[in-house]
Amino acid sequence: MSETNQGHSPEKPESSEARGRGGPASVTPDSRYPFTPYPNGWFRAAYSSELSPGQVRILKFFGREWVLYRSESGQPRLIDPHCVHLGAHLGHGGEVVGENIRCPFHHWEFGADGRCTKIPYAKRIPPRARLSHYDVVEKNGLIFFYHDRDGGSPGFELPDLPEVGDSTWTEPEVMHWKVRASWLDMNENSVDQAHFKFVHGTLTIPPTKARAEGSVHVTESVFTMRIPGGEGEATLITLDHGPGFQIVRMTGLIDTLMMNTSTPIDEENTDVSFSYSVRHEGDSRKLKLAESVIKDLKQQFEHDRPIWENKVCWPKPVLCEGDGPIAHYRKWYRQFI
Ligand code: FES
Ligand SMILES: [Fe+2]
Repeated sequence: MSETNQGHSPEKPESSEARGRGGPASVTPDSRYPFTPYPNGWFRAAYSSELSPGQVRILKFFGREWVLYRSESGQPRLIDPHCVHLGAHLGHGGEVVGENIRCPFHHWEFGADGRCTKIPYAKRIPPRARLSHYDVVEKNGLIFFYHDRDGGSPGFELPDLPEVGDSTWTEPEVMHWKVRASWLDMNENSVDQAHFKFVHGTLTIPPTKARAEGSVHVTESVFTMRIPGGEGEATLITLDHGPGFQIVRMTGLIDTLMMNTSTPIDEENTDVSFSYSVRHEGDSRKLKLAESVIKDLKQQFEHDRPIWENKVCWPKPVLCEGDGPIAHYRKWYRQFI
């Protein structure tokens, strides 16, 4: 015992929790996220314009490769990359032949359901000659595929948006980023009302309400914005259709539509894209305003990025009453992880 301690009863050491160490519950040592990086849901494979009839593309999502192709009649299809015969990669030399994809190695052909339909040098097709293929839908100028960890069928459907293809709306302006963060970090932005003021410099903290409707999460926020000559109010309604597709509609100052899609690339990185349209109604002032909103969106993304790329996701964060519906959002997304 040291001299200074003589005559004193030893004090009970302060618990690690009392000293605030260890964080609000723990993340696993080798991950920043206490949940699967690969949730269930519909995810963007590509924009429709990125895949023409007869085209074959290799995608790298969910920590692996996939082959996306469009048949000659225009159907998008997503399959496992390696041929069930002797393992050739269909993304390297595979060709679309009518409705089939043909392997470059021995020219076996596979149809819409992944089954082999033709072997040029055999009469009988082995019953197991079938490629794994995935559920794909093409909507709103996007090709989505359904990811289910257990190989199950889609748990919900995606909506058709009336604004897409309407001539009173601008053609979508598309932005792409690769971010070292989870899809959740990006999506949670809409319910994290306080960050808008402190990260993006909004005039006020936008009051935000949220509700869950099965696979859809609805967030409504009212923003006070700086506009030429003063301030204006805009309402933002965000609809999350699962983890991979978020629709943001703004009304008030100008009617806008944003389609945000986040697809995990691997356990650390996410491919993020925004597609942005404005109801212009032939008004050049609205088009000018749209340009400045797009510029602002790009800046906002760069404000968020360093925070997303270095943060962790606590399983039980310490929240306060002004935080808005973050806990509500996290409860909703549990159905996908
Ligand atoms: S490896 Fe594909 S046909 Fe032989
Ligand atoms: Fe943000």
